[in-house]
Amino acid sequence: EKAGYEHFMLKEIYEQPSAIKDTYRGRMLADRGIIRMAGVDDNLEKFLNAKRIIVVACGTSWHAGLVSEYIFEDLARIPVEVEYASEFRYRNPVINKDDVVIAISQSGETADTMAAIKLAKENGAFVFGVCNVVGSSISRETHAGAYTHAGPEIGVASTKAFTTQITILSLMALKLGKAKGSISNSDYHMYLNEMEQIPSKIEKALQSNDHIMKVAAVYKNAKNCLYLGRGYNFPVALEGALKLKEISYIHAEGYPAAEMKHGPIALIDEHMPVVVIATKKGHYEKVVSNIQEIKSRKGKIIAVVTEGDTSVKNIADHVIEVPETFEALTPLLTTIPLQLFSYHIAVMLGKNVDQPRNLAKSVTVE
Ligand code: M6R
Repeated sequence: EKAGYEHFMLKEIYEQPSAIKDTYRGRMLADRGIIRMAGVDDNLEKFLNAKRIIVVACGTSWHAGLVSEYIFEDLARIPVEVEYASEFRYRNPVINKDDVVIAISQSGETADTMAAIKLAKENGAFVFGVCNVVGSSISRETHAGAYTHAGPEIGVASTKAFTTQITILSLMALKLGKAKGSISNSDYHMYLNEMEQIPSKIEKALQSNDHIMKVAAVYKNAKNCLYLGRGYNFPVALEGALKLKEISYIHAEGYPAAEMKHGPIALIDEHMPVVVIATKKGHYEKVVSNIQEIKSRKGKIIAVVTEGDTSVKNIADHVIEVPETFEALTPLLTTIPLQLFSYHIAVMLGKNVDQPRNLAKSVTVE
């Protein structure tokens, strides 16, 4: 059942190229420039008239929601708010009839997300679900939706659910951007073609596994770890930190790189590993100067960079390369090394990778 892999988590990490193909298969016809998604097509007016999108989710699904904030605003020019379902449900939030609520949940059973959906429905909003488990409670409670089709995710630490959620949300943003005219035809076609390249680029990123294992061995006894990213890769930093926390029990924090100087920089010394996502484009120069600030305080830098990068290579302690892609699609690649990094650390520490202590795969209680 683990198909020769030592853990479900590792199997699911390696399944991402095919999981993403399964997500877009039959929906994205890149050569014809078509994105078909029944749940969106049938409700296109609601999406096009939406004054804003409110995303509700928990955990890793909330991180996918944060990535979607960047892509929806960037490509479809629709304002997005991303909410922890548990906060939203108890806040007496302002919800309008012309709000579109997107609920993201791998299991489709998360209690807080479910409650947020019910609240949104009571207030007249249109609620769209992005779930992995077919027939799950959330997929039944929402007005419409799209399944990620990632296949069963057994490891408690979410991996392929995250990247397939981002895939679905990116397709939606592209589809709406096209319908609204907020992206040009040529950009739209370029994005579709690039999306088709993502699975093979993930394959390429997975080839760094042995190198990542060696880097993990250096930091396995760290007590803390900081993750930094900007723009599209800020949520990836949060997700990288969550992965490390939940399976290795090492304290980790994700931060937008520029926020460092507002507090966390005080933590930096020779014992602090800092994972920095520093891919080309996406505020590259600014991230490079953040790296210099950390180095001058003796922090250890593990940088995720674009293939062929030279400037970061000169200053970082370790670099992990991912192939080049459009900035908006970088999270699909930069996430991969961070998943592998936490996986290897947890294995080396002898932790129960697939079933970390105190955690359940679906959180059906609030
Ligand atoms: O099934 P869901 O996507 O609604 O679950 C949400 C979170 O409980 C989940 O993502 C959790 O944070 C994972 N263990 C993270 O790896």
